[in-house]
Amino acid sequence: MQRPPAEVRYADELRRLRETDSDPRPPGWALSLRAARRFIVGDARHGISQKFVGDPSLIDRSLVSLATSRGLMLVGEPGTAKSLLSELLAAAVSGDSTLTIQGGAATTEDQIKYSWNYALLVADGPSMTSLVPAPLLHGMSGGKVVRFEEITRCPLEVQDCLLSPLSDRVMAVPELTGPDAMVFAREGFNIIATANTRDRGVNEMSSALKRRFNFETVFPISDLATELSLVEAEASTLLRRSGVTAAPNRDVLEVLVTAFRELRAGQTARGDSMDKLTSVMSTAEAVSVAHAVGLRGWFLRGESGTAEDLVSCLAGTAAKDSPEDLAKLRRYLEQQARGRKGPGWKALYDARHVLPG
Ligand SMILES: Nc1ncnc2c1ncn2[C@@H]1O[C@H](COP(=O)(O)OP(=O)(O)OP(=O)(O)O)[C@@H](O)[C@H]1O
Ligand SMILES: [Mg+2]
Repeated sequence: MQRPPAEVRYADELRRLRETDSDPRPPGWALSLRAARRFIVGDARHGISQKFVGDPSLIDRSLVSLATSRGLMLVGEPGTAKSLLSELLAAAVSGDSTLTIQGGAATTEDQIKYSWNYALLVADGPSMTSLVPAPLLHGMSGGKVVRFEEITRCPLEVQDCLLSPLSDRVMAVPELTGPDAMVFAREGFNIIATANTRDRGVNEMSSALKRRFNFETVFPISDLATELSLVEAEASTLLRRSGVTAAPNRDVLEVLVTAFRELRAGQTARGDSMDKLTSVMSTAEAVSVAHAVGLRGWFLRGESGTAEDLVSCLAGTAAKDSPEDLAKLRRYLEQQARGRKGPGWKALYDARHVLPG
């Protein structure tokens, strides 16, 4: 598997947390709130790794939301780990993060609620055997957390099919009769939705649906050293998985993370203002550039990746939204990289000619 779900990646940690968890649990939860928090923010004394970097109070509020009768809506800039956090929360609360609906322009109610096996439907008519549950039905009948990724990318009328599962905790299956016609949610069921501020925003969401969610904003990592160590750790893991045995070059990484932060904020670390890119320069993008730099270095030349690899990978990230961004990146390399202290910056300045165009 390229990327097993969180409950498989961290099966050992979850097992240890379950075995030692003596705190009260909300009904239907696999862990107590405190153990779920430790799973996500980490606990060095018990060998539990930190998986999400950020304000631990966000985790507390998110977990409390999930224990209430409202859903949890994680909003924020792209690449701030909203999806990762929703996966970790679902793995902690239900032991299963795979009941996931990926929202998009073409998402239909069938993909959210249920559909039918048409051969059985024609042969036997509508029944529990011809019904094919989708994540929402699975989550409600199994008492589990359902994840709804990028909910705002779905048509509004499709989003609204969450109203009665969230408020009345029930879903009607009008094709069936008798007790099967109503699915009542078991304890433990709730919904975590994510939405990013770049796509169609949450403003367009119906106010009826908004009222059924608690909103939490996930912010980018505020400090350079924390972001740098996260990018280093994540890139090292990805590189190892790609068969690269050289660790990422620390000088290159430092320049990479600093450049991402400055291009994202439109301000240098010294406080000078500069052009901000319209492309997304998130931590998730920084991790993927660091991975690509390591791959280039290793598979093209058998080393860990240089400033030239960085500039050539940056071009592919920075020029997504507008051609203007490439010009801004060029100005950044010429004006900001020049004369800064440290070997990484000199190499970056010298590599500016690698930028295409
Ligand atoms: N605060 C953070 N803690 C841990 N990892 C982070 C953090 N911020 C970014 N990352 C990195 O970003 C990756 C996750 O990005 P993810 O896809 O979850 O972001 P997202 O907010 O859902 O983005 P999008 O809006 O594009 O869907 C992680 O795998 C990790 O490498
Ligand atoms: Mg996401």
